[in-house]
Amino acid sequence: MKSGSSHKFRGIKISFTIIALISVALITLLWERTPLISSLIPPESQNVIATETVTVTPVTHLKDEYEQPSAEDHFSTENIPKHLPVEEANHVHVVHSLNSSRLPTSFLEPKKDKNLAKLPSEKTVHPGCNYGKGRWVADSKRPLYSGFECKQWLSSMWACRLMQRKDFSYEMFRWQPEGCEMPEFKASELLKRMQHKTVAIVGDSLGRQQFQSLMCMVTLGKENPEVEDVGSEYGLVQEPGATRPAGWAYRFPSTNTTILYYWSASLCELEPLNPSDPATNYAMHLDRPVPFLKQYLHKFGVLVLNTGHHWNRGKFNANRWVMYANGNPVKDRKLAMMMNAKNLTIYSVVKWVDLQIMQYPQLKAFFRTISPRHFANGDWNTGGSCDNTTPLTAGSEVLQNVSSDPGAEGAVKGTRVKLLDITALSELRNEGHISKYGIKANVGVQDCLHWCLPGIPDTWNEILYAQLFLLKANFVWRGNHIESNMQL
Ligand SMILES: *[C@@H]1O[C@H](CO)[C@@H](O)[C@H](O)[C@H]1NC(C)=O
Ligand SMILES: *[C@@H]1O[C@H](CO)[C@@H](O)[C@H](O)[C@H]1NC(C)=O
Ligand SMILES: *[C@@H]1O[C@H](CO)[C@@H](O)[C@H](O)[C@H]1NC(C)=O
Ligand SMILES: *[C@@H]1O[C@H](CO)[C@@H](O)[C@H](O)[C@H]1NC(C)=O
Repeated sequence: MKSGSSHKFRGIKISFTIIALISVALITLLWERTPLISSLIPPESQNVIATETVTVTPVTHLKDEYEQPSAEDHFSTENIPKHLPVEEANHVHVVHSLNSSRLPTSFLEPKKDKNLAKLPSEKTVHPGCNYGKGRWVADSKRPLYSGFECKQWLSSMWACRLMQRKDFSYEMFRWQPEGCEMPEFKASELLKRMQHKTVAIVGDSLGRQQFQSLMCMVTLGKENPEVEDVGSEYGLVQEPGATRPAGWAYRFPSTNTTILYYWSASLCELEPLNPSDPATNYAMHLDRPVPFLKQYLHKFGVLVLNTGHHWNRGKFNANRWVMYANGNPVKDRKLAMMMNAKNLTIYSVVKWVDLQIMQYPQLKAFFRTISPRHFANGDWNTGGSCDNTTPLTAGSEVLQNVSSDPGAEGAVKGTRVKLLDITALSELRNEGHISKYGIKANVGVQDCLHWCLPGIPDTWNEILYAQLFLLKANFVWRGNHIESNMQL
């Protein structure tokens, strides 16, 4: 840091400390008023819930893959509030306590790692870099893995190279954020940096796409017999009668790195109201995170959350979800509106994770913004389509400073959970969906929600990679305070 700015820095440092203290006090207060804590639930019932959720959740195969969003949740960019500064959301919130033992160690002394691949020089890295703003540029070195390969990880229902589809120009672009460097994704680098660590992706089927994409990126799409299935360490085993486990966990023995996915469409705790009835309704506790998080979060080095496409009446009815808040059925009509219920859940889970980071400072948590749908001339079940095959017909640039998902952006603001803002950049890629080529598609039913892989979710992972590994080059621990080489 330049000596001239040290005065300014100290001011910033003090105000950060004050903000941090106030936030902690506020969170603690709120926390005590809303008992979300897992310890209130006896461990046996947690197990019951986890098991029940896997085995009885009445989602058929089709419902599962086609997440029927209704009109009320139809993606729209009309309501973007212009006043939310994205820079806030993308800042790293490390200065919450000046006690070094509490600081995420990986943010400290980054210069120790001499063997790591060359990163862009520090001055090109900016903590306020808004990775969601920028442009798509053609890149002949894409895709990052072959769509003909990666059969070990990539579901055939998302492998467009193995379908009737003939156009693949959508594979040939990379994302260039404005004013900041985008590091080249290096599988070996990711593994090295994540040595002895677990990367967890928790969310709906779009999260599963991100997980499969990451597995393909890390293995370069090549068969890798060494990778171990460690699902059982995370309770991810297929229950009798279930169509599949609730998730998957794989370990790369060379670095002892685990990558896992857990399927939680709502991120809420689901509790069967009558456990002995196979057709039971489920209390959907909007203000309680899914028990899987409570059980395993302490093991995670990186957590990526998402939810969004199940927040509609069709899904709620099919899954027999009944909203609960504060342990009681939701009677408040305003809260019962989908938008508000979803907002409560997102805020609750983010707040809960933020609090956990105090205890587990090694954790880097992200909330991924919603993945846009592109149904035109109808919805998923009324003949909606996404037939365009020409990339970037609606432009190649994102110019706005705010996220197109203000709910997610608002929820992470002021927390240590970072935004993985992929909405607007994905919105430009309506040609990248499964479209009419799905292997199980009925005539006239298109999938304009899920993406072809390789494809757009690869970019989400590249941005995750950048946010994970570039930012930390900027913070240096100096005995009693953090120094930043950037202008804050
Ligand atoms: C820092 O925090 C740790 C644990 O939270 C505590 O044991 C230690 O005494 C603290 N150190 C200082 C200097 O406050
Ligand atoms: C692998 O990493 C975990 C932490 O994620 C650690 O507990 C375990 O001891 C490591 N195993 C080996 C063989 O180093
Ligand atoms: C979402 O919930 C938070 C916290 O309760 C609230 O501050 C915010 O205004 C809500 N946002 C919307 C769009 O309702
Ligand atoms: C975005 O932020 C930049 C720099 O802070 C500013 O110059 C620009 O006018 C903003 N753009 C919009 C559309 O608000």
